[in-house]
Amino acid sequence: MTDSLHRTYKVSIVGAGNVGSTLAQRVAEKNLADVVLFDIVTGRPQGIALDLMEAAGMEGHSRQLAGTNDYVDTADSDLIVITAGLPRKPGMTRDDLLKTNAQIVRDAALGAIAHSPNALIIVVTNPLDVMTYVAWQATQIPTHQVMGMAGILDSARFQTFIALELGISPQAVNAMVLGSHGDLMVPLPAYSTVSGIPITELMDPPTIDRLIERTCNGGAEIVGLLQTGGAYYAPASSVCLMVETILLNQPRILPVTAYLQGEYGLSDLFLGMPTRLGRAGIEKIYELTLTHSEKEALSLSAQKVRENIERVMAFL
Ligand code: APR
Repeated sequence: MTDSLHRTYKVSIVGAGNVGSTLAQRVAEKNLADVVLFDIVTGRPQGIALDLMEAAGMEGHSRQLAGTNDYVDTADSDLIVITAGLPRKPGMTRDDLLKTNAQIVRDAALGAIAHSPNALIIVVTNPLDVMTYVAWQATQIPTHQVMGMAGILDSARFQTFIALELGISPQAVNAMVLGSHGDLMVPLPAYSTVSGIPITELMDPPTIDRLIERTCNGGAEIVGLLQTGGAYYAPASSVCLMVETILLNQPRILPVTAYLQGEYGLSDLFLGMPTRLGRAGIEKIYELTLTHSEKEALSLSAQKVRENIERVMAFL
């Protein structure tokens, strides 16, 4: 896909692991942008990029894919996606990964932004809300240009479970999940709808509670099944939706991890919010009317993220 000057967009993905390589495939096969895959492991991003290029004729796209171990090759990117880090192992919480991934994300953000000072940054590495803060702190770029992918994935999982429960197509379901990406996420049943009808009109409270519990446990359920590493197909699809929304300037209201400046009574942290996402990045944060327990859950979520931000900033 190109802009009005017929320049092909460029997306650089730091971390050519499961999420990064699946995202590269989605972005190229949708013809959205040329892709540069960066990794610290020599040969891995080059091999994946070549493999994906060799599928181009059959998949019907004309995008270029390249792999590299040098940030110079990511120069002039429109978007930088950071997936570099260690994935969760069974029994490990996202927070166990805090310190290691903070160093990796800081280095990735600094390495990439040095060659693409105007790029938007999407962080995927966990623990997500804290890593997004780390990327922003390291680069000091405007807050609306840094964001994290979590809410779209959590909402997609809720969407799936609602659809399975009702025996309908997931495409008929819109779900909304806010808060931190982890056990303290905040699914919003009143804002989760089927053809505009809130699910609170379609299911009884125990059923909704069961689906919410499965959603909150969604990442761990897959880690438990796979045993090695975490989910990557739905995470890659979730980032790809953000890439498409931004590059094609098709603004959408999506739950995105965004910087808060007083919204919901919270400041100076990144948390999953209902946002207007567009070409400029986070163009607006919507303040929805929440129930008392949802407000409490959001504030608990924020408290946990803030504690981890303080831990990580003291360490870095
Ligand atoms: N710079 C660049 N790449 C790095 C660095 C670094 N400093 N450190 C690690 N990597 C690379 C690894 O070499 C690996 O190829 O990051 C990649 C991570 O890939 P996977 O281990 O396959 O992990 P993945 O499943 O893709 O998840 C990546 O996304 O959803 C989150 O929790 C998940 O934090 C994890 C991230």
